[in-house]
Amino acid sequence: MITTSAPGKVILFGEHAVVYGEPALVCAIDKRVYIHASKVPSGLKIISGKSKDFRYVKKAVELVFEHAGKKCGLDIKIDSELPPASGLGSSAAVSVATILAVSELLGAKLSKAEIAKLGHKAELEVQGAASPTDTAISTFGGVLFIQPKKKYQRINAALPLVVGYTGVERSTKILVQNVRSLKEKFPEIVNPIIRDIGKITRKAKRRLENNEDVGELMDINHGLLCALGVSTEKLNELVYAARKAGAKGAKLTGAGGGGCMIACVPKNAEKVARAIEACGCTALRAPISKEGARVEKHAI
Ligand code: PMV
Repeated sequence: MITTSAPGKVILFGEHAVVYGEPALVCAIDKRVYIHASKVPSGLKIISGKSKDFRYVKKAVELVFEHAGKKCGLDIKIDSELPPASGLGSSAAVSVATILAVSELLGAKLSKAEIAKLGHKAELEVQGAASPTDTAISTFGGVLFIQPKKKYQRINAALPLVVGYTGVERSTKILVQNVRSLKEKFPEIVNPIIRDIGKITRKAKRRLENNEDVGELMDINHGLLCALGVSTEKLNELVYAARKAGAKGAKLTGAGGGGCMIACVPKNAEKVARAIEACGCTALRAPISKEGARVEKHAI
């Protein structure tokens, strides 16, 4: 029997612009998916408290069997601290934690790079399209500066965050399509917005590396995401409530259209969390998780 875990993520800066070649800053949060797996004589049994969508687990198991060149029967239980379809990377965390668990049970030691690669493959095969970002951050943890077609860069940063979850599930694919349509309709207006988001992300990287505050940059980034049409009334309500309760900065995170926002809270974390809850939403106190995927317990 083995227990593994992998963290979820939030995008700190650069969502949507990253689709058009600008950088993004993404960080692992200390909210995890736990996989409890045991070898059994045959078959694959999966149970989970929250979701009945087992496609990622099944695909992850299949890919590890293929990679290791051996198989076994498995009982798998999923425990998740992450809401599904919220932009917090729950499917990537499920895939990564499953890959780690099954590879350990089979005695096939995988490097972190191999786990991230198989995790990305699982997401690609289940979803048809997926960026490698979520599985990379879930595997490695910490904060990553991502530039399309370049190697990830690890950033040493501490950023106290509260995450506000609207409870509204959304589709990243549709939101990316909406931004693309707006860009095609008004390229002379939308292209500079996308480039400005890129500038904000580069600036935020430098400031985080120097331990400087990035709250105002979060606020500006949120404004530009509103201009791209991906915020919602509820996300804006949470962003303003967080700022009013003392957050240094706040913005939506991920694709928008529902899902989550983040607030930077060097102070007043409790007050900000309560302000989010007063809007009828869920607040997750979520510091950066320096650690990525890990084995929690392995009983032989
Ligand atoms: O699925 P989410 O909420 O983590 O958002 C994805 C981020 C986008 O930039 C909107 C899309 C992408 O593929 O990078």
